[in-house]
Amino acid sequence: MSPTLLEKLAAVRDSGNDGACTWSAVYPQVQGAPELTAELRRTVEAERARFLEEARRTGCDETGRKAPELNIDFSFLATAGDVIGVRLVILHLGDMTAGKATTSVWYDGATRKVVPASSLIDPNARDRLATAVKGTLAGRKGVDAQKLDSVVASLDPRAFDDLAFSAGGDLVVTFDEGVVGAATAGQVQVVLPRSTAQPLLSEFGRRAQGRAMEPEPGVTSSPSGTPTVEVVPTGTVTESARPQVNCRRVKCVALTFDDGPGPYTDKLLGYLAKYRARATFFVVGQNTVMSGAVVRRTAQAGHEIGGHSWSHRDLTKLTAADVRADLRRTEQAIRDATGVTPKIVRPPYGALNATVRKATNQPMILWSVDTEDWRYRNTSRVVRTAIKGAKPGSIILFHDIHATSVEAIPQVLRTLSARGYHFVTVSELFGGKPPKVAYSAQPPAGAKR
Ligand code: NI
Repeated sequence: MSPTLLEKLAAVRDSGNDGACTWSAVYPQVQGAPELTAELRRTVEAERARFLEEARRTGCDETGRKAPELNIDFSFLATAGDVIGVRLVILHLGDMTAGKATTSVWYDGATRKVVPASSLIDPNARDRLATAVKGTLAGRKGVDAQKLDSVVASLDPRAFDDLAFSAGGDLVVTFDEGVVGAATAGQVQVVLPRSTAQPLLSEFGRRAQGRAMEPEPGVTSSPSGTPTVEVVPTGTVTESARPQVNCRRVKCVALTFDDGPGPYTDKLLGYLAKYRARATFFVVGQNTVMSGAVVRRTAQAGHEIGGHSWSHRDLTKLTAADVRADLRRTEQAIRDATGVTPKIVRPPYGALNATVRKATNQPMILWSVDTEDWRYRNTSRVVRTAIKGAKPGSIILFHDIHATSVEAIPQVLRTLSARGYHFVTVSELFGGKPPKVAYSAQPPAGAKR
């Protein structure tokens, strides 16, 4: 297997707020390993279906701190040679089934198969693993002796679904909340030193261990474990020359695209260029790290880049310190990709409270026209909603992670430019100075919030 398994890597992101139940998921799309991508998609879709089912039963209070939220994120465990390991981090907030769960998915490039975490262990060494785990955990604070006994006795693969290696080759077993202890005690981790772990591993396990210890060149792990896939030269993006548009004198609209960059962003850039239209892209930090070159191309084409949080969490559910850290990290990702510090933020789901507002001096940009494109995935419906809602000063919300939305843009540009509209960035719409919280340049009567 060539070391190019990860060459064409993209992040698949999706999000929505069905009845104000907010969910967001991202997983890697590895073109060299379609079987892995399919498995990750299946897992994510099953979690989402389960969440939406629960959400339908309990309902979602738009402002409540306890409103259900699903957030799925990932990190790479190994990315070298013929082994890929991915850990999905599934955060589920809500009254019914709150908690953080992780699961590791392994891919063996030699057989082109997705294998469960348990396949890292030699079938003949399972008892020794049980003994080692029990020996490490027995008596530890927060561990329930009875639960530990039954988990270890059965070696239930659902309990042992997150096996990974540290950079030093230690075997790391992570149990979800409530599996070996009280749910409130959080996840429980066992680290078996390399020397203890070595004889317990299967042939694949030893290969995975070796790969986990040697990161793929070009795929370097950030402190959070998120790989930087593309090496993008930094430098200042030069503004391409274009006559200044004065939105107090001519009709302007700001087209805005959230949750990207995604697989259709480049196509969208082509459509916008045809009409010399500028737009604003509110990018997710994690996607930006994965696809820095796309963000750089976007900025180079003269579009504005704003932050849309690191992993699309509902920021109103985080502490002030966590909001600040999230926004800073996202800002840094954009700066790394483009060389430019973003000046505006759009909070995921448009969710704002005093804590979020105070976390940054950057203007919070909401919208006045919501195409609801994530919900309907219907190009002509997106076209209709955007055109019908457009007024001078409108901020129109789209998501460039959906092909159906991107395909709506040529018609939106054609129709609105025929009606005399200029397509400007959000900052241009406000003459360079957006207010602290903005819905449109001229708020329509009856605008909420
Ligand atoms: Ni979003």
